[in-house]
Amino acid sequence: MPGREAHEETSGLNRRDILRVGASTGVLGLTSVPLAATQNQDDAFLVRPYLQLGDSPRLRSNEQMVVMWHAIDDQATWRVDVRDSATEAWAATTPPTATRVSVEGIAPHRVFRATLKGLTPGKEFEYRLRRDDHQVFASSGRARKARSQPVRCVVMADCGTGSPQQKRVAFQVAQVDPDFVLIPGDLVYNNGRISEYRSSFWPAYSPHEASPELGAPLLRSVPFLGGLGQHDTGQSLDQFSDGFAHYMYWSFPQNGPVRDVTNTNAFPLGGNKTRRLATLAATEDRYPCMANFSFDYGNTHWTVLDSWNPHIDWGDQQLRAWLRNDLRATDANWKFVSSYLPPFNSSTAYPHTQKMRVIVDILQETGVDIVFCGYAHSFQVTHPLRFTPDNASIGAVRNPGHQIAGTFEFDRDFDGKTKTRPNGILYITTGGGGNPSLHSPEQTDNSATWQPYTVKYNASVNQFTDLQIDSDKLVLRQIDLNGKLIDEMRISK
Ligand SMILES: [Fe+2]
Repeated sequence: MPGREAHEETSGLNRRDILRVGASTGVLGLTSVPLAATQNQDDAFLVRPYLQLGDSPRLRSNEQMVVMWHAIDDQATWRVDVRDSATEAWAATTPPTATRVSVEGIAPHRVFRATLKGLTPGKEFEYRLRRDDHQVFASSGRARKARSQPVRCVVMADCGTGSPQQKRVAFQVAQVDPDFVLIPGDLVYNNGRISEYRSSFWPAYSPHEASPELGAPLLRSVPFLGGLGQHDTGQSLDQFSDGFAHYMYWSFPQNGPVRDVTNTNAFPLGGNKTRRLATLAATEDRYPCMANFSFDYGNTHWTVLDSWNPHIDWGDQQLRAWLRNDLRATDANWKFVSSYLPPFNSSTAYPHTQKMRVIVDILQETGVDIVFCGYAHSFQVTHPLRFTPDNASIGAVRNPGHQIAGTFEFDRDFDGKTKTRPNGILYITTGGGGNPSLHSPEQTDNSATWQPYTVKYNASVNQFTDLQIDSDKLVLRQIDLNGKLIDEMRISK
């Protein structure tokens, strides 16, 4: 086929080039791929292909990844091929599956998934999509790292506003070439709707070209993972019929504890029956299960929690048992928790956000290293700390503003430079991923306004967290939307 030849002439797709320059350079051979005479490449997609970890929480000797894309509701035949390197033959995946999304106010469309199998851990691979036998897309990715391989990843929360700042941050994220991106919450504003993903999320992370003004085509090469924030499941379906897109458009591990739509810990699908049924059909078995999950990547273990949801009670013994077991069971060197709501934060915008302190005993008991948070649009770092609540029996905790008082022990020696072995958990808020409304910028470097546990605070600019983890060493760099280093910290085991 002409498309195939065009692509094979450009073998050796370079993932780094895709991230840093973009797809319009001819690197992918896309400009020479014929569709019907009246079509261009974008006619094939409502949302261009993006990589996902899929329901694959643990490392595999034969790795896999899911590629997803959105297309109009027609009968086109799609095929996906994958290969480990440019010198190998293409292999077809099992036929892609399609979920029809048909909710009020949005033209029906299809969300496709194909699983790329047989990947070598840590190694780059190539994939391509064909629509009715014409190649319409090609890109490359990097398979999940094995235990012995170093990991580089980005954590940033409070992203999807469609702002120029979000795109500048995306461009800088691409420069560090992460293995994956984790967004603890507020992937998209203001209510997690399909229409909002289209205006305020996909454009920044899937443009044709990488530039500070456009963002960077991260999604085609870098799997994103995310937790739910205040704005990801905002309102009842009666108010917004195209809400709950989080569960339609992502493929994360489905190993969470809230598995049933009747579970009182789930954010409910409020609204009339017709809308609820349409949303359930589009979210399939991912709602509500995908609200909490864990996954491994190299020598790191990540537990992603649904925290803002005013219906979830982390005092619930079943949820606590799941969290404890999940954190106990891993043999990864590093344990990280993603909690959109910060248990400890100094922002004067959110003085009472203490709900997630209800699980701190479990995090301490199981040896969690760092908790990454959002919600407050700022960068905050605590002392390594231990927290003991005043009341041993806290009871049900649902309200995000629930206050839990207690006593602290701080490791005041740790400085992340010469003293790099923390005694206690570090709580890091990194909520500057794209929302231009930064919280309490006047508190930046103004320690008189901070809580006693806070040692760093910056809300002067949008920014993200770049983590490099190799065996028992971790380097954290906080980078702003212009690529300027805000902070650097080293942690060792
Ligand atoms: Fe936010």
